[in-house]
Parts: sequence; C-alpha cells; structure tokens
Amino acid sequence: MVRMTESTAAPGTPSTGATTPAPQTAPETSPRDQALADRGSNRSQRPSSPAFRRFIAERWADRPAGTPAPLPSAPYAAARRARISELFPGERLVLPAGPLKTRSNDTDYRFRPHSAFAHLTGLGTDQEPDAVLVLHPTDDGGHEAVLYFRPLAGRDTEEFFADARYGEFWVGARPTLEDLAALTGVTTAALSELADALAKDVGEGGVRVRVVPGADDAVAAQVDEARSGTASAEESAAADAELAEALSELRLVKDEHEVEQMRAAVAATVAGFARIVRHLPRAVEHRRGERVIESSFDGHAREEGNAVGYETIAASGDHATTLHWTRNDGEVRTGDLVLVDAGVEVDSLYTADITRTLPVDGTFTDVQRRIYEAVLDAADAAFAVAVPGSRFRDVHAAAMEVIAARLAEWGLLPGTVEESLAPEGQFHRRWMVHGTSHHLGIDVHDCAQARRETYLDAVLEPGMVFTIEPGLYFKADDLAVPEEYRGIGVRIEDDVLVTADGNENLSAALPRRPDEIESWMAGLLGR
Ligand code: GLY
Ligand code: MN
Ligand code: MN
Repeated sequence: MVRMTESTAAPGTPSTGATTPAPQTAPETSPRDQALADRGSNRSQRPSSPAFRRFIAERWADRPAGTPAPLPSAPYAAARRARISELFPGERLVLPAGPLKTRSNDTDYRFRPHSAFAHLTGLGTDQEPDAVLVLHPTDDGGHEAVLYFRPLAGRDTEEFFADARYGEFWVGARPTLEDLAALTGVTTAALSELADALAKDVGEGGVRVRVVPGADDAVAAQVDEARSGTASAEESAAADAELAEALSELRLVKDEHEVEQMRAAVAATVAGFARIVRHLPRAVEHRRGERVIESSFDGHAREEGNAVGYETIAASGDHATTLHWTRNDGEVRTGDLVLVDAGVEVDSLYTADITRTLPVDGTFTDVQRRIYEAVLDAADAAFAVAVPGSRFRDVHAAAMEVIAARLAEWGLLPGTVEESLAPEGQFHRRWMVHGTSHHLGIDVHDCAQARRETYLDAVLEPGMVFTIEPGLYFKADDLAVPEEYRGIGVRIEDDVLVTADGNENLSAALPRRPDEIESWMAGLLGR
C-alpha cells in the first residue's frame, strides 16, 4: 500500500485527515500531549507550503465534458421509490448508503452500499460512501427524492491531494453532483446540506422522520437530533423498524431488471464452478487445497462481477459437515467429496447462492451416491411444490418428508417417519439443522426483515427468487450413523424463480445429478 514517504514532505498531519488542516510550519518533534489519533502523521511528511498548494492546483486538463448515461436500473429504482412513497405519505424517509468501515487502523474494507440504498437508487459496486437518499414529503402526498453525497472536490482543495480516504490522488475522482443525477435520475445535493434538510419542518405536529436502522450511526444521530422532543426513543425505534420491514418486503417479488441481474449472477457463478473443477488437480496437490478452490472462485468473482456475495465455503471431507466452513484451510483428498457453496455478486450487487458437492476424483463411491441421491430427491420434491399457490413453508416441508423417509429406510431414526415429521419429533433434523430455502437477491439472505406472514407463511408469487438447498451431514464423530456414512456432507443448492405456471431453476446449467456431474467433470478435466 502506498503511503507518503519521507522524500515527499513535512510532518504534522495525518495522511488520512481531510478534516485536519495542514500546519504551515512543521514541528521538529511531536509534542508529548499529541493526541493518539494524530500520531499516524508521525510516519510521513506532507507538503503544505502555499507555493506547493498553488503548484499542485494548476495545469490539469479539463474534466471530460458531458454526463454519463442513465443506469439501466434507474426506471426500476424510481418505481420502487414510488411504492415506498405510497406507504409513508407525509413522512421523511432517510436511507443511508453507510460509511466506509475500518478494517484496521487507517485501512478500510472495500465499500459496499447498504442494500436498501442500492435498491432505491439503482447504484451498485462501491457507490457511494456516506451518501444518503432522502425521500422528502411533498404537498401532493408523494415524495421528492434527493441524493446527498460528497461530490468531487476541486483541484484547489487540500482534499484533492492530501486526503487518503476521499481524495482524488488517493482513491480516484468521485462523481460530481451532475454525474450522479444523470446516472440515477434523482436530484442531487452536497452532503453538507443534509443536516438542515433532515430537520426541515420537523417538530411538534410536524414532519415525521424515519431512518433505516443500522445503516449509518452518524446519520442516525443527525436524524435523532432533528426529531428529538417529537417522539420517545422507543417510538422512533419502532418507526424505523417499520421502514426497514417495508424496504425488506419491497424485495420479496423481483422486478424484471432484478431477475435479469439474478440471471447474470447465476451465469457468472456457473462459470466459476467450472473453473473450480479445472483447478481441482492443483487443489489435491496443495497442503491447503480448500484455499485453492476458494481463490479460484473468488478471483473469478472479482474478474467477472463485483465480488463474492458471501464468504465462499470450500469444505472437503468432514469439513462439509460444518455448515459455514469458511476457514477453508484443509486438504482436498482424492476419494472424498468436496462441498462448495459460492456465489458471484454482480456489479448491481445481486448475488447467486449455489452449492455443489463434487467427488474430488470425478467419481462418486456407492455410499456417496446413496447419500447424494437422497438429498437430490429432497430437492426435486421441493422444486415440485415451489409453484404459485404453495406457501413458502411447504417447500421445506416437502424436502423434509424425503429426508426423513430416507433416514428411516437406513434405520437411523428413533421412531417412524411420521413421528419424526411431527413438531414434537424432528429427529431427522439432527442431520440437516438448517432450513431448505431463503429469499435471494441483493442480499444473499434477502428480505430478512420481512414479517413471518409475508415470508414463511406467504403464498408463493411469480417473481419470487429463493434457494432450494437441502442437505445431509454425517459428522466424523457421529456414533448414531454407520461408519461408512461418517465424514460425508452433501448439500445441493439451486436458485429458483417462481413463474406464472411453475418455476424455473435459474442454476439448471450447473449439473446436479450424479451421472451428469461425473461427465461434466470428466469433460473439464480432459478425461
Ligand atoms: N451460503 C449461505 C447459504 O447458503 O445460505
Ligand atoms: Mn443459501
Ligand atoms: Mn449457499
């Protein structure tokens, strides 16, 4: 990582600090009472003379003329804003993108905007730290959307060259107010105008303000300041929770653009799985073969999309029985199965979520195949009921009937299938403690703030996208199963779109039946 060096300048200011003015004369040594937060500057020197400031501000080419074309998501985001507007007439709704998050000391994680902000602005990738979308109530009962953000600073500012977090020299040129207005179709304003805008007409009997909870503590504090005295903390928290719930439920049925983005995410993920298979021989050779799998997929995700939609699970042998095995530091052994759960998040931030369980050497053993086929039958049963008119909970129930029946056939249940399926039994869940499905979209576990009646108990509708992901996991130390089952974990996870007359398996291009997997792997491995 580049940092200012001794050769470039004078001590006294942190390289990250746009807010700390550069001293005109640099002290020889740090004062003993120098604040700890300022001590990062003790490693470097920054030029600060008036002559330097004039010199660095001059002789740059004009910035490109014109503004960018509107995002394809822009009209869809406008329709989403209109639906939220209808639910909260007369109220001010505040949706922060969120701040940069510190990884350690003065280095940040790559920025990803809050999902509700991305959904209602149409922005994706890393746009835009600290931005805030506000829906201001209008006299006609609707709302005017305004996007507040930190626009590109001029070349005559200290930020231009000296601010490692936001400055153009350090992180590139940010968009101008005109740029983001053109991209999103939303009115834009400088972040410095936000505080006054939040407080306008708020007060006893005035405009109610709601903010998305957990998105940006600093913005939430500004909102609390603006609405202090108008509602108790509990009332405000409840009002904010209702907004979060509505924004989550807004995503339960995907629009045309979202479905297109899901198809792109799935296609990139399918290609990523093929890359993993091609790298399997190297994984077998490596002392941390699971990392070879992880890096094969994650590199692909960065090349083809924004990132992975969640931490890749590359779990070989008994590791596959740990549901969220993301340490991925194990060997990949010939003769074992390897479970890979991975998804590419595309630039619009929609992600796939796919799992395949593959024989490392390309061929299932009899016992591996027996367990695999039980899971596959459970998935097929779930697909059969994932149609309009069913309830979301029916999908899981269908999978569980098959899982319980197979476990009973194998003599593993302490009673009948019916006893196990009854709420007071559930013995089969020892070997599949997770659910079968979750909504999928801009978050891997999408719509997580939706109410039970709109999620688990909801009737399925065309446009819903969710996973079907049954599994069976027999731990190496599980004395309740035959020895030959121990250390085998299988999950098959596909992404399904409910259609008008049934469903579509969006991830069908990735083989999921044992014979198809074997021939697909043989083709990729040139066997
Ligand atoms: N990869 C997380 C999940 O399948 O839900
Ligand atoms: Mn999943
Ligand atoms: Mn998954």
